[in-house]
Amino acid sequence: MTFRPWTYEDVYAVAALEKQCFSDPWTFRMLADSFFSENTRTLAAEEGGELAGYAILSVLFEDAELADIAVSPKFRRRGLADEMLARLEGEALAAGAERVLLEVRVSNAPAMRLYLKRGYVGCGVRPRYYADGEDALIMQKRLAGANS
Ligand SMILES: CC(C)(COP(=O)(O)OP(=O)(O)OC[C@H]1O[C@@H](n2cnc3c(N)ncnc32)[C@H](O)[C@@H]1OP(=O)(O)O)[C@@H](O)C(=O)NCCC(=O)NCCS
Repeated sequence: MTFRPWTYEDVYAVAALEKQCFSDPWTFRMLADSFFSENTRTLAAEEGGELAGYAILSVLFEDAELADIAVSPKFRRRGLADEMLARLEGEALAAGAERVLLEVRVSNAPAMRLYLKRGYVGCGVRPRYYADGEDALIMQKRLAGANS
């Protein structure tokens, strides 16, 4: 498995995998906008030329936000999301962030377990945050080594 930042060509494969992984996927345009944003860090996990997973993190001063993370069904439960998150947390810290925030659907047990395993804790709820009316749980993790 290799890990690297996206190239523009990756946005096509990411958009296709995004559709497989989410009921309310980001569009190609949203993903492309993230790719070009200077606050954004992207990560692609690749095996044999196939996109196995991807993640997007944005950093704004002391706060980083995990915007998107997904792993292709056939590559799940191999520690890929855990590894991508660890790498992006390292990049966030190097960029000066002190914590990472994220939102997760309250019904998304696999993702919530992943975040709990990595030391994230719930810190708020956004009622009816998603288009289908589901609430989002806000989770955060203070980065070890951050100044405060
Ligand atoms: C959530 C997701 C990214 C996890 O990816 P993954 O590479 O399979 O996760 P990992 O193998 O790194 O798992 C790390 C930990 O997360 C938890 N976890 C992951 N998948 C799980 C599942 N299906 N059920 C229960 N716990 C799960 C476990 O604690 C796991 O550690 P363990 O294997 O030692 O028990 C993947 O299921 C996915 O792409 N889901 C659809 C998209 C999505 O919901 N993204 C998150 C949006 S907030």
